[in-house]
Amino acid sequence: MTSTQTVDAEAVNRALTNATTAASHAPSIHDTRPWRWRAHGNRLDLSVDGSRTPAGTDLDRRLAILSCGAALHHALISLAADGRHTTVTRLPDRAKAGHLATVRVNDRVTVEPTAIRHLQTIALRHTDRRGPSGIAVDADTLRPIAAAAESQQTLLHLLRPRQIFDLASATDDARRIESGNQAWQAELRDWGGTGSPRTGTPDTAVLPEASTATVPGRNSGRCGDMAVADTQDRTAAFAILYGPGDSDLDWLRAGEALSAVCLKATESGLSVQPLSSTIEVGATREIVKHLLPGPGHPYLVLRFGVLDATASDPSRTPRLPAEQIAVQP
Ligand SMILES: Cc1cc2nc3c(=O)[nH]c(=O)nc-3n(C[C@H](O)[C@H](O)[C@H](O)COP(=O)(O)O)c2cc1C
Repeated sequence: MTSTQTVDAEAVNRALTNATTAASHAPSIHDTRPWRWRAHGNRLDLSVDGSRTPAGTDLDRRLAILSCGAALHHALISLAADGRHTTVTRLPDRAKAGHLATVRVNDRVTVEPTAIRHLQTIALRHTDRRGPSGIAVDADTLRPIAAAAESQQTLLHLLRPRQIFDLASATDDARRIESGNQAWQAELRDWGGTGSPRTGTPDTAVLPEASTATVPGRNSGRCGDMAVADTQDRTAAFAILYGPGDSDLDWLRAGEALSAVCLKATESGLSVQPLSSTIEVGATREIVKHLLPGPGHPYLVLRFGVLDATASDPSRTPRLPAEQIAVQP
């Protein structure tokens, strides 16, 4: 092997490590980070990690696959910001259960400023469970965010005011059904920030009291110590990520869209909170399906709010140090 080839192999290896580190900042159901990366030369394989899928909440792994899609989108941004051209094959081997994508790193390309900006946004983005500021989210701000979802072959439907009450009622039903399920409660406790190595939503990212919101977030079964002035959601906008299919590929693309939407929203000064209770329960998923403008499958409900520039930034859900992120050869 020539020294040029050695240098390039090292540079590719570094780019792949950077990509998996960036991916670790992606949002995931219960902060489970249910993805596994394997590097082989210039190739990175992404699989869903069955040992990190919360079966009580996500029986058919749809939301775990969606979380993996968000990680994939984060990884691709990192590679683009590293000046790497990539080829992605989604669901490359349908006979291999859980193998979601293969990313091949090709030649160097010019780095686009948007890739750098998105990479910087990855470090800033976080789930924001506080009540939004007093300023309402306007439709013009949401337009480029919907376009970000469409760039990943997924759609974003903004709910009309009357539909928000239907969503609120479905959310109440989902919360009641899940709270009455012992297995679900145990799982929520397990992923509640006590795991080792540390994952799960920490107390500092959980509301200190019951939410007064019209569409409440997940009933975490515990009081956190997040600093909040208010939990109301009168000025929030609610939207549904959806698409035509219900296959693993559709859920993977939905996750890529979630990442694109979250980054665009953060860059537009909006907070984002994913709300998945109604998607987790079959009966309420059907109700959410009827809120869509046409035939399709709902993947995730999202709440957007205008960030209050005067409020303190909520404490983030921490990530493992880069050297502890498993990238198996
Ligand atoms: C598929 C999916 C479903 C989620 N559902 C909820 C939810 O119902 N309520 C909530 O507060 N956060 C929800 N989240 C956000 C995660 O809890 C959050 O991404 C995780 O704790 C990591 O924190 P971060 O987004 O601040 O990095 C969801 C995220 C994903 C990807």
